[in-house]
Amino acid sequence: MIVEFKVRCHTQSNELVRQKSYDFANQLSLEVVDEFFELNEQQATFEFISDKLCLNLMLDRKSTQLAFDLNDGEVAFRAARANKSNEVVAKAIGCKPHYRPKVLDATAGMGRDALIMAMLGCEVMMHERNFAIFQLLSNALERLKKEAKFSEVAYRLKINQIDSVNKTGELDNVEVIYLDPMFPERKKSALVKKEMRLFKLLAGDDPDADQLLLNALDSSAKRVVVKRPKGAPVLAGKKPSHEIVAKKFRYDVYLNN
Ligand SMILES: C[S@@+](CC[C@H](N)C(=O)[O-])C[C@H]1O[C@@H](n2cnc3c(N)ncnc32)[C@H](O)[C@@H]1O
Repeated sequence: MIVEFKVRCHTQSNELVRQKSYDFANQLSLEVVDEFFELNEQQATFEFISDKLCLNLMLDRKSTQLAFDLNDGEVAFRAARANKSNEVVAKAIGCKPHYRPKVLDATAGMGRDALIMAMLGCEVMMHERNFAIFQLLSNALERLKKEAKFSEVAYRLKINQIDSVNKTGELDNVEVIYLDPMFPERKKSALVKKEMRLFKLLAGDDPDADQLLLNALDSSAKRVVVKRPKGAPVLAGKKPSHEIVAKKFRYDVYLNN
């Protein structure tokens, strides 16, 4: 588990990156170190590469870098084409031809599902409790706002560093609560993508996922949607109103009256 965070700034970095790194470190009261700093397994260093915030952490005894991008790769491709008929999530959260619900994504992670929902036209409030994941996601969102083709959708996304467990009941105007807690990986670790291994290293498991669902069901949201791997047990032993099965996972949909 990572218990100590620092900010790494190369001695040769340009003035802009140096300023960004020091501002970021000051804001979060983190120590700044240079490129000669040697990480141990309990430490991680944030680092700006141009305006992208990255996190260096040890994986298999090597320093390895993690950063989130909402504007490239498969998610951006899907997001750019997202519409009600081709995204299973649209059905799960209850999109209708002239209706897009306000969503709380209570387990934001890398923000990928939230981006698809925003692309469908939903306003999405993201909650992420993990300090480092929150920082990486906030930075990815800021960069997305600067991309002309995504700027409008990026403004439909908001993010807060919050533990949702006791916060899902207090939200006004939220129509759908979306949950995607961590699920223990069943594949051998070597087969799991490096990015996912790093992400899991940071986030750990979510042992309170059952409570998260119970609290969400206690809220005024009309619908609670839980993304689960295929074959995984339902959360908190609660049978959903219905389920929607996709290729690699399923959505448990709870209609909350
Ligand atoms: C499987 S990931 C979510 C992935 C996300 N759906 C995506 O598309 O990138 C689960 C995330 O939820 C966060 N999380 C779990 N429980 C939480 C809680 N009670 N409050 C806020 N964040 C939580 C974890 O830290 C982790 O980042």
